[in-house]
Amino acid sequence: MKSYIVGNWKMNFAVSESSIYLHKLLQRTRQYRDIEVVVAPSLTALQPLSLQIDRKKMRLAAQNANPHDFGAYTGEVSFTQLRGIVDYCIIGHSERRQLFHQSDKDIRASVAAALRNNITPILCIGETETERTFGETYDVLRDQLLGGLSEVSTEDIAKVIVAYEPVWAISTTTDAHIASPDEIADVMQFLRRTLLDTYDKSSAEQIPLLYGGSVNPSNAGAYLTVPEVNGLLIGGASLIADQFVKIIETAKKVRD
Ligand code: 13P
Repeated sequence: MKSYIVGNWKMNFAVSESSIYLHKLLQRTRQYRDIEVVVAPSLTALQPLSLQIDRKKMRLAAQNANPHDFGAYTGEVSFTQLRGIVDYCIIGHSERRQLFHQSDKDIRASVAAALRNNITPILCIGETETERTFGETYDVLRDQLLGGLSEVSTEDIAKVIVAYEPVWAISTTTDAHIASPDEIADVMQFLRRTLLDTYDKSSAEQIPLLYGGSVNPSNAGAYLTVPEVNGLLIGGASLIADQFVKIIETAKKVRD
């Protein structure tokens, strides 16, 4: 399986800034066959960047899309409309679940819509601080994982990527909120076991599991060596070329 390094730019950079930043990243990134580098700019930048990107080095992801193919959904953009522009789409990010009340129903429909449109879904799951405090982590993760995948056919299940982002560990600099590699290891094993218990072995083994939450060049190596971690989903550090490129190089070193 490849290693995945995914940069979620969230709501940052105007179109021209995105283009300049992508240019910088492309100049500084080597082409690695065993590492898939993906960046997720804002919606407005996706189309121009799709003409600029070197697909041998990097791929594009959307940060969200609407599960309906077309129709009267003012302000929305569908997976069908993103076809040919992006190869991936982040789905069910905790910011969308929490700030925009994205429902489980919407998330599972989005995973199915992405696959229907030949876009690889990156399904995000993760417990909040309160859920963690009340010991609900594993129940929440099982529900979000199996709920998010429930409309995926058995033939398609191996085409999905899952990203574990503990909500309490996103964009933090406080030690108490940095997830330790040991904590991640337990969760990742649980996720793989849940997939193995639910789907056939060869498909379940093929699903890349990513970790996300305050990843930076100093801790990326430790996360990437956790068993069952197949890549990283990065927010803040993906906006700084030096840091993002260092993380890609770390992933390469960990593989070699
Ligand atoms: P940070 O890396 O800034 O914590 O963001 C993580 C994230 O939400 C990526 O999707």
